[in-house]
Amino acid sequence: MSETLWWQHGTIYQIYPRSFQDSNGDGIGDLEGIRQRLPYLTWLGVDAVWISPFYPSPMADFGYDVADYCDVDPIFGTLEDIDRLSADIHKAGMKLILDFVPNHTSDRHPWFQESRISRDSPKRDWYIWRDPAPDGGPPNNWISNFGGSAWQFDEATGQYYYHAFLKEQPDLNWRNPEVRWAMHDALRFWLDRGVDGFRVDVIWHLIKDAELRDNPINPAYEPHQRELNRLLEVHSCDQPEVHEVIAEMRAVLEEYDERVLIGEIYLPIERLMAYYGNDLKGAHLPFNFQLLQSAWDARHIDNLIREYEAALPEGGWPNWVLGNHDQARIADRLGPAQARVAALLLLTLRGTPTLYYGDEIGMVQVPIPPERVQDPWEKNEPGLGFNRDPARTPMQWDDSDHVGFSNAEPWLPVDHRAPERNVATQKQDHSSLLSLYQRLLELRRERKALSIGRYVSVTADGDILAFRRESDGENLLIALNLGGTAHRLMLDEGTTGRVLLSCLGRNEGAEISGSVEIPANEGLIIELAD
Ligand code: GLC
Repeated sequence: MSETLWWQHGTIYQIYPRSFQDSNGDGIGDLEGIRQRLPYLTWLGVDAVWISPFYPSPMADFGYDVADYCDVDPIFGTLEDIDRLSADIHKAGMKLILDFVPNHTSDRHPWFQESRISRDSPKRDWYIWRDPAPDGGPPNNWISNFGGSAWQFDEATGQYYYHAFLKEQPDLNWRNPEVRWAMHDALRFWLDRGVDGFRVDVIWHLIKDAELRDNPINPAYEPHQRELNRLLEVHSCDQPEVHEVIAEMRAVLEEYDERVLIGEIYLPIERLMAYYGNDLKGAHLPFNFQLLQSAWDARHIDNLIREYEAALPEGGWPNWVLGNHDQARIADRLGPAQARVAALLLLTLRGTPTLYYGDEIGMVQVPIPPERVQDPWEKNEPGLGFNRDPARTPMQWDDSDHVGFSNAEPWLPVDHRAPERNVATQKQDHSSLLSLYQRLLELRRERKALSIGRYVSVTADGDILAFRRESDGENLLIALNLGGTAHRLMLDEGTTGRVLLSCLGRNEGAEISGSVEIPANEGLIIELAD
């Protein structure tokens, strides 16, 4: 597949490092733990590993509050550990993607410590400081993503600083060129060490309105929503100048071979597309979260796939995401039967798939007793269902006390409710979700049509979602039943084919002709004859 790059034909696997594997018995996962589990990832058949932040951090937001961009937090290991992990990932033929968090630092970062000392500090302008409003309140009405004002008053100098997330996460001022240069150096530090790319945290937030104007009131706000939604984020993110900042980051990656820039962006399709950049000089992959945000409805998903495909800029490479550390587990949202259909969808759509650790064994939301809540968002806006801990619990390797994750009590509770929901059990069972993922990944590697082929829409109705993937004489029909009753999909006259893979493990190898019966909760990959 020399005509496409690794991040185009490959599959990305996201690891939340606190929860993958603990190697030193402190109940928290670490880099050495990930290294020990690499044979599993090789067996599963993924191509790249993205690791959520492991930099030195006070852990106010579990690593998304970085105190040093060029080191490893002792909880996770050392620079030697990341070098060893990187070497082994590459030896196994995989790639390593780091999480880069440029929008904000920790309030303990030396840059912020220096910035807050005085109004004349050389680093004052590295962050966003403003005088109080005439009434002494915050400079504008912006709301933090985790609730409350996005401004924190700092007694020492009598000004407020802006934080889009926690007050322990002050936003950097990306309008200041010195900030850009310092961050480019951090990127080069890791690129020089051989990492293959970055997933850039909240990239659409980097530039804010130059005048910091108030955001307008959201007339559609409802009280069960997060506080952030009281306003429309017109001025606080997604500003036109952000594309220049991203193009500069991209240019840093272009100093090296075949590195990938992935942007975390929660925006509707039409606004998302701008993040490919002018002449595709922006992010290689602006994360596409459509499947996470959409109702599990065949007509709806069919439309969004068509809309997304049609909106892509010429040459822009698509991608799809089913889960991440900020969202409820997919198997919980859909239930076990449709979790299998979702796996088939993710791994047959055109574009780079990103798989969240544990989704391949159907991990579900793990109940967190109030005294064990860790997530700062839940602590700030409790009881509204925003807790991210339930989707961040330890990877379930086996059915032992600490599920093979650690020999000590893990930092979050482990799930013991289903004896089969672990790697060891599912690996032995050819009908398990894990085996389905493994077979899908294998097929995706074998079949160019699946990894890099064209997407062709297919008309269907009711609960059926269908499309074709085509490449050099390979013609695959994907037909999924997102509902609980059987349907028959009519094919063009004279069409014949053979079932290559079935979610339910039925009728594989069967010949079809003219139409195909799709049982409830079934997903089929059918090879069509010419
Ligand atoms: C991103 C991360 C999330 C974090 C936030 C602030 O959305 O995915 O986990 O809390 O940014 O860094």
